[in-house]
Amino acid sequence: MSTREQGYFTEENSDAVVNSRISETADTRLAEVIKIVTRHLHSAVKEIEPTQEEWFAAIQFLTATGHKCDDWRQEFILLSDVLGVSMLVDAINNRKPVGASESTVLGPFHVPDAPELPMGSNICLDGKGDPMLIKGRIVGTDGKPIAGVKIDVWQTNDDGFYDVQQKGIQPDFNLRGVFRTGEDGTYHFWGAKPRFYPIPDDGPVGQLLGKLGRHPYRPAHLHYILEADGFETLITHIFDPDDEYIHSDAVFGVKESLLAKFDLIEDKDLIAAEGAEGAFYEVVHDFVLAPA
Ligand code: BEZ
Ligand code: FE
Repeated sequence: MSTREQGYFTEENSDAVVNSRISETADTRLAEVIKIVTRHLHSAVKEIEPTQEEWFAAIQFLTATGHKCDDWRQEFILLSDVLGVSMLVDAINNRKPVGASESTVLGPFHVPDAPELPMGSNICLDGKGDPMLIKGRIVGTDGKPIAGVKIDVWQTNDDGFYDVQQKGIQPDFNLRGVFRTGEDGTYHFWGAKPRFYPIPDDGPVGQLLGKLGRHPYRPAHLHYILEADGFETLITHIFDPDDEYIHSDAVFGVKESLLAKFDLIEDKDLIAAEGAEGAFYEVVHDFVLAPA
């Protein structure tokens, strides 16, 4: 028996035997990851003590999850999202300095080639929902405005769908766009007040949520990616704090610092000052980018 071999496999020594087979010449990071996963997986199986039928049901669930995936639909990411793993990986990789804005989950509905629009444009092309003006400032942790920030935003329409979920129904690039800050670091654009919507729940992950008595909803939010030279890219959202699902986001993306204020503006002078035709919601939200 070589020094790496631990003898025959038993219930007691199962993980040690499996891990002992990994070659010393294996990639060290891969070996580390597999050893940890094996240890925790065996520990979970020992705690659960699944029947053969239960283990086969787990295999069938993973098989169905794989079958649901294609170039457009990624059911494994959705599984990672609803188990909180996506947000955990996000937290580990985005430990920001004090004062910097926090990140959250990217989600599957970003499109990389949204049109760049003049500041102040309206991204709501289907005219549905309550008009919303969003504005703020983008600064560094030193408080200085950042010029040239690429602001990539996207949101659902008033029916709770992204344009890419309703091709041919919504106009292309409805409720998404790219803006760039000027010297003062400010931004502003018009959209529609977002509403809560379900994550795609017509697959195995949706069935799992149902069996666990969990709902599939995400509270109303607006997605941002902020990119600027010399700064860490920030992938984040702002959320409506009054949404009924704000404390039970299906993918655990809500953070206190990401709650925005949605003020209903009904004053005639304020409406006229913004060139609006009637009442609208106003959201003022600043971002602080961490240095690269
Ligand atoms: C979203 O906000 O677009 C989203 C995030 C995670 C899973 C599904 C949807
Ligand atoms: Fe979303």
